[in-house]
Amino acid sequence: MEAFLVEGGARLEGTLRVDGAKNAVLPILAAAILTEDAVTLEDVPRITDAMHMAEILTILGCRVEQQGKSMMVRSGGLHGWEMPDRLSKQIRSSIFLLGPILARFRKATVTYPGGCEIGLRPIDLHLRGLRSLGVKVSESGGMIYCDGAHMRSGDVYFDYPSVGATENVMMAAALLDGVTAIHNAAREPEIVDLQNFINAMGGDVRGAGSQMIEIRGVKQLRGVRYTPMADRIVAGTLLAAAAITGGEVELTNAPAGDMVAVLSKLREMGCCIHEEPERLHIRAPERLGAFAQLQTQPHPGFPTDMQVQMMALLSVAQGTGVILENVFENRFTHAGDLNRMGARILCSGRTAVVQGVEQLYGARVTARDLRGGAALVLAGLRAQGLTQVDQAHLVDRGYDHLETQLAFLGAKIRRIDI
Ligand code: UD1
Repeated sequence: MEAFLVEGGARLEGTLRVDGAKNAVLPILAAAILTEDAVTLEDVPRITDAMHMAEILTILGCRVEQQGKSMMVRSGGLHGWEMPDRLSKQIRSSIFLLGPILARFRKATVTYPGGCEIGLRPIDLHLRGLRSLGVKVSESGGMIYCDGAHMRSGDVYFDYPSVGATENVMMAAALLDGVTAIHNAAREPEIVDLQNFINAMGGDVRGAGSQMIEIRGVKQLRGVRYTPMADRIVAGTLLAAAAITGGEVELTNAPAGDMVAVLSKLREMGCCIHEEPERLHIRAPERLGAFAQLQTQPHPGFPTDMQVQMMALLSVAQGTGVILENVFENRFTHAGDLNRMGARILCSGRTAVVQGVEQLYGARVTARDLRGGAALVLAGLRAQGLTQVDQAHLVDRGYDHLETQLAFLGAKIRRIDI
């Protein structure tokens, strides 16, 4: 087991380049099996979720080669439509493979997926979307069997704009005859990136970024070299790290245009932010001011993946603020750890009231999910004394060596074996 050991008090300064986005890379890796040609992705972060996805593809018969940050997938040898149980449980994104495997084999079997412990996270919308395309779905003993013998294009309507379900249907429909229209689609920037990737392979997808996506099926897709978009959540986390330490940091390769909600909250807290298309500069005050209210929403609302980092910031801000978590039902699990460090947070259901304190104190705390772990590291940067964040592996799911990135900016942080 590994942990992060953080000595609080250092002010972050410097320039850092933001990695490729986990939430873009994972569906794109799944979409790579829509062609038998070689697909090369550049700027793939060294995160365990991407490694697990590569492992699943290998078990299914693909050749995956990784060199530095570039990853090549050749799926000519793809032979399986049954996703391996252990890995599916480890990584929720294995569910993305349903769409492209159905497109290739017209059948697929998967176990119920795992992932972060941030809520119930059912997959009913994924399955309903696929049913709208004529897929017969049956479930038994924790397994899901999909029969796509009679798959066809058509209209798909989502009661809720699920990111993963939207992506799954886009991939399932990419090779179907005719036009598939997704109504009430999710509008996240990573969905636009998936559209760009499918189109770069020769597909015809339009409308991503709006509530209606149209997929005109093509006969065949071809290999491509592609660089996924930069990670807006990693960028947001690094800005939050600068903010909580009263620092001054510049980020390059930052998807500033996709970060309006986060930048607006950081400004509300007193940070001075200068933005250019791929560059962000933040200068934080010595003490942040509280924002009155933050509500998570599907994009372009405030991203749930940045909520807990903002809770860490709010816990040391001047004043009191309220956070409403509308996307996941169980995303305040780190409030208790922050309180152990001296924060004053009261949670009830989907609401948290955070009363800012002058000082946090180092403690031994535990990451329970990916973003929560990052938030505890942020709190440690500001706390007096030493903070140990256990279960570093959960943070590694989505941050490429977070400790190295923060240390580069001057943080006193290292990884330890425990
Ligand atoms: C994706 C992101 C994740 C982010 C989330 C919301 C990836 C790999 N992960 O997850 O980092 O936090 O979007 O921005 O891109 N839901 C259902 N039924 C379904 C599917 C979802 O009820 O079939 C519910 C979920 O439980 C949750 C909400 O819808 O409450 C949002 O989930 P969704 O948009 O699907 O998120 P993910 O694609 O899982």
